[in-house]
Amino acid sequence: MILTITANPTVDRVYFVDNFQMGEVHRPERMVCSAGGKGLNVARVAHIMGEHTAAMGFVGGFNGEYIKSELHKLGIETDFTRVDGETRVCVNISDKNGLSGEILEKGPEVTLAQIEEFLKDFENHVDNYDIICASGSLPQGVDSSFYCEIIRISKAHGKRVIVDASGTVLEDVIEAKPFMIKPNRYELSLLMKKEVEAIEDVKNALIFLYEKGIELPLITLGKDGAMAYIDGEFCKFNSPNVKVKNTVGSGDSTVAGIATGLRRGMSITDSVKLGMAAGTANTQFEGTGMVSEELVEKYYKEVTVEKL
Ligand SMILES: Nc1ncnc2c1ncn2[C@@H]1O[C@H](COP(=O)(O)OP(=O)(O)OP(=O)(O)O)[C@@H](O)[C@H]1O
Ligand SMILES: [Mg+2]
Repeated sequence: MILTITANPTVDRVYFVDNFQMGEVHRPERMVCSAGGKGLNVARVAHIMGEHTAAMGFVGGFNGEYIKSELHKLGIETDFTRVDGETRVCVNISDKNGLSGEILEKGPEVTLAQIEEFLKDFENHVDNYDIICASGSLPQGVDSSFYCEIIRISKAHGKRVIVDASGTVLEDVIEAKPFMIKPNRYELSLLMKKEVEAIEDVKNALIFLYEKGIELPLITLGKDGAMAYIDGEFCKFNSPNVKVKNTVGSGDSTVAGIATGLRRGMSITDSVKLGMAAGTANTQFEGTGMVSEELVEKYYKEVTVEKL
């Protein structure tokens, strides 16, 4: 079973309006509401790919209940820790003129006792999971030691952890040596404190991360696929050329694909190929973190791997 951890999930609401203007009243033509957060995208995609999936994290109030019920409807198990206050709402205003704007709440503060409750619960159940994916930013009250502790507990139980984080959280998490991290080019540049452009820069970063103790450092490069350091070789994964609808959540889909491959006992290279296929499949849907089994299967056959 694949476990995803979403420390700061959201209720996402997209309002479709015509000619949005401050000071005016708008009656949206359409509103789409969904359970959001990077870890929940990973859970949804792994589930669609046929994996038995569970979700942990912190939720509060009615919005928290909404998130749990949306996951249950899909058939994803949940084991969230309750916090005081309401899980955050993120509003996107999508104007017919093509522009959009967002209002992102911070979310409720998590107390030390709630963090301890989560970690105790996690340690009690970690043996039920094959692989753990921790994704996204952390809520108020939680710092990077939370992810580090998840990595420590998982490793003590012989479990692999994939962490998709950025900024200082990613910097700190690397010290705890998760099995895999997957910065995109922008996140990698922040981490390396320099613009990572040329292939040589990506290679140097991969070696740097591998020597830090990350078994599978993976740099995703959007339409250009990804690069990884596997068994002492630099591997460039080329994604199929496609006309995209929406790329948001492609990285989350990649994580889900890789976790799925590893859970099935596929080689690391084939698991990354499956991740590329899932990331590309996500570009074919309007929704964030959405794939179909058919498309993943089709793209899997089209991903190529080069040794550089
Ligand atoms: N335009 C595209 N065409 C084909 N494949 C794509 C495209 N964009 C993304 N992908 C696939 O998805 C993978 C992950 O994409 P990307 O590097 O954009 O992740 P990301 O920036 O972490 O995304 P997010 O954080 O929104 O989930 C890529 O390695 C690639 O396989
Ligand atoms: Mg990403």
